[in-house]
Amino acid sequence: MRLLVTGGLGFIGSNFIRHWISQHSKDQITNLDKVTYAANPDNLTDLDSNSNYRFIKGDICDQSVVDQLMSNIDLVVNFAAETHVDRSIDDPLLFVKTNVLGTYTLLKSALKHKIKHFHHISTDEVYGTIDHETKDEFSETTPFDPTSPYAAYKASADHFALSFFKTYDLPLTITNCSNNYGPYQNPEKFIPRVITNLLTNKKIPIYGKGENLRDWLYVDDHCRAIETVIEHGKVGETYCIGGLKEACRNIDIVKKILKIMGKSENLIKYVTDRPAHDNYRVSWKKIKEDLAWEPQESLDSGLEKTIDWYQKNQDWWKKAKIEAENFYQKLDNYKNLK
Ligand SMILES: NC(=O)c1ccc[n+]([C@@H]2O[C@H](COP(=O)([O-])OP(=O)(O)OC[C@H]3O[C@@H](n4cnc5c(N)ncnc54)[C@H](O)[C@@H]3O)[C@@H](O)[C@H]2O)c1
Repeated sequence: MRLLVTGGLGFIGSNFIRHWISQHSKDQITNLDKVTYAANPDNLTDLDSNSNYRFIKGDICDQSVVDQLMSNIDLVVNFAAETHVDRSIDDPLLFVKTNVLGTYTLLKSALKHKIKHFHHISTDEVYGTIDHETKDEFSETTPFDPTSPYAAYKASADHFALSFFKTYDLPLTITNCSNNYGPYQNPEKFIPRVITNLLTNKKIPIYGKGENLRDWLYVDDHCRAIETVIEHGKVGETYCIGGLKEACRNIDIVKKILKIMGKSENLIKYVTDRPAHDNYRVSWKKIKEDLAWEPQESLDSGLEKTIDWYQKNQDWWKKAKIEAENFYQKLDNYKNLK
């Protein structure tokens, strides 16, 4: 099979490509990535000598590049996106371009080239927020109610994707997953930021009181879930993917990391909350019952593996860490001006 994977130099995309090649060594993968600040070209250097893998630097919004690549493809897996909620508040237009127009460009081209299967990666954030008290959970039938610009553009892309199935019969599946963590995640994101702050003797900023709820999905479990949906999922269906049975408060995650790393809770610093800060909890009953997938990693074992990886791969994250902290500094200055 010939795959076009977009955004494959990012966190989940690079883990997915490595996973797919390990399971389907004869398949050919083309990785189309714009190489934004979020990409790391070192993520897949281990595949440099693999003749079934090729990397193309390009933008999913560029119709001619997309058309050219799509002409020889069986399966599209679309990871490419602007993904950082805080950046979506800072620069929403960029998110409209990549997350909405980019997805539309891919869908249009996939239809033109009669692609056999288009798999679109989305987020549980499209569903908005759960009630903190009742601790309800999202499922595939929860109405979309996005609150951040990031979630709104992802929701828009999901609507476009499903409309291409309903209107034009484009064979398509969608997965809406919860927060991922694991190796190769940019240190601007919550868990790697906590770990890398501790590794560089910095305090850990937590929005509000750290009460916000999240589900956490280890990236390898996510990659297996995507593979399962591609191989056994029903066309036109959406599958929610999560990693835990109970949602976890941000403060609890931080305390777990502090404990594993043998650090003091005095390092926690509470900071002004993000606007419209959501709570998420996702049910993964459908993918478990229909496709027999379930997460293999517990939160404790996943965190231990992740911490170990960041400890051993400091050269990988040092530069991105400086950029991430500069971004957060800019955000703080902006908040102080308001
Ligand atoms: N990380 C999570 O916790 C999470 C949770 C739910 C859903 N998702 C979704 O999973 C997907 C991947 O997320 P991630 O965390 O790996 O993201 P990431 O930010 O680590 O990587 C995104 C990749 O997309 C590339 N990219 C951005 N704009 C592009 C464009 N216009 N053309 C081509 N490539 C472009 C970047 O260069 C980067 O390599 C996204 O669609 C995201 O919305 C992520």
